Amino acid sequence: MLKSKIGGIGYYVPERVVTNEDLAKVMDTSDEWIQERTGIKERRYAKKHVETTSTLGANAAKIAIERAGITPADVDFIIFATLSPDYYFPGSGVLLQRELGMQGIGALDIRNQCSGFVYGLSIADQFVKSGMYKNVLLVGAECHSFGLDFTTRGRNVTVIFGDGAGAVVVQPTEKEGQGILSSHLHADGDHAEHLAYINPGCHGGKHLGTEKYGFPEDDQSFGGAFLTPTMWDNEDYYPNMNGQFVFKFAVTKFPEVIMEALKTNGYTPEDLSLLVPHQANLRIAQFVQKRLRLRDDQVYNNIQKYGNTTAASIPIALCEAWEAGKVKEGDLVCLAAFGSGFTWASSLIRW
Ligand code: COA
Repeated sequence: MLKSKIGGIGYYVPERVVTNEDLAKVMDTSDEWIQERTGIKERRYAKKHVETTSTLGANAAKIAIERAGITPADVDFIIFATLSPDYYFPGSGVLLQRELGMQGIGALDIRNQCSGFVYGLSIADQFVKSGMYKNVLLVGAECHSFGLDFTTRGRNVTVIFGDGAGAVVVQPTEKEGQGILSSHLHADGDHAEHLAYINPGCHGGKHLGTEKYGFPEDDQSFGGAFLTPTMWDNEDYYPNMNGQFVFKFAVTKFPEVIMEALKTNGYTPEDLSLLVPHQANLRIAQFVQKRLRLRDDQVYNNIQKYGNTTAASIPIALCEAWEAGKVKEGDLVCLAAFGSGFTWASSLIRW
């Protein structure tokens, strides 16, 4: 049976480095607190009015496309995973398509937050395995820095997140044993609000911009521009996270979904060449490593340099590992994610 493989991979992070000390200048936090709780030393922020989620994604995509040995004209389909799109709508997939001159092909945006890349990979895998497409471009990209609360009120969330993008081209392979072996996707909406950016949204009568125009609180109200001055002062308009709850759930679900992928294919943690976990928090990754008794060389982490880049974190880490020669043909690689939704997922790949 036809299988799919990652035929090309690339990543792009903005040039601007923001250290923990930089954040401590604008909010009550410290390098010591951030490093001790999360492992993060610095992160990248996109250049305002120049870079957006889709332009970061396009930069990563160009590299992945070239490394796959194709041109943008050969791409059959785009999947774009992000929680920080350029616009409320349309999605960033069509903007990346325009940027790379790939008009006409399908572009699918997915909203699975930190699990977005692994969910997207499973979709690309199905299209390629079925023979429908030969070159699926999958992008995970985020510009968090434009939507964070830089007052002390938002410090528990803001210090964690960074901007960046990663991309892969998923292609068919007929090589014996090679390819994506299985994908495992999960979600539990019971905990949706524990890690959420709930406004602007249409729940509970609050819709885009109604506050600015002062429309009466009735069914006739409608929206305008969002993130008006009144909203900036309202904590509902920033990401919210119940950190300890998220942490506890993550350290249970990561090992579970990794073991699910290994067991499905008759492997044990010892067989893994490399685990690339979503870079949520270094403490979470270390907990998972310990639980599965993995050696240091079996796990790749780079959250220290980039923070948590949500849908971009796995492809950035995978690409860095690949560039460093830590992912070679024949290796058994597991990608695993957990995040807002809650959603969690894994993918096992014979490279
Ligand atoms: N700098 C300094 N102090 C901070 C801070 C910051 N950036 N953020 C929070 N604090 C303070 C809190 O206000 C609190 O102070 P108090 O004790 O006076 O009330 C104290 O530190 C402890 O806060 P708490 O939220 O209990 O800390 P924690 O040990 O749970 O660590 C996280 C916070 C966010 C680092 C941790 O919960 C975590 O990593 N959770 C998982 C997050 C994650 O992975 N999210 C992404 C999933 S995809």
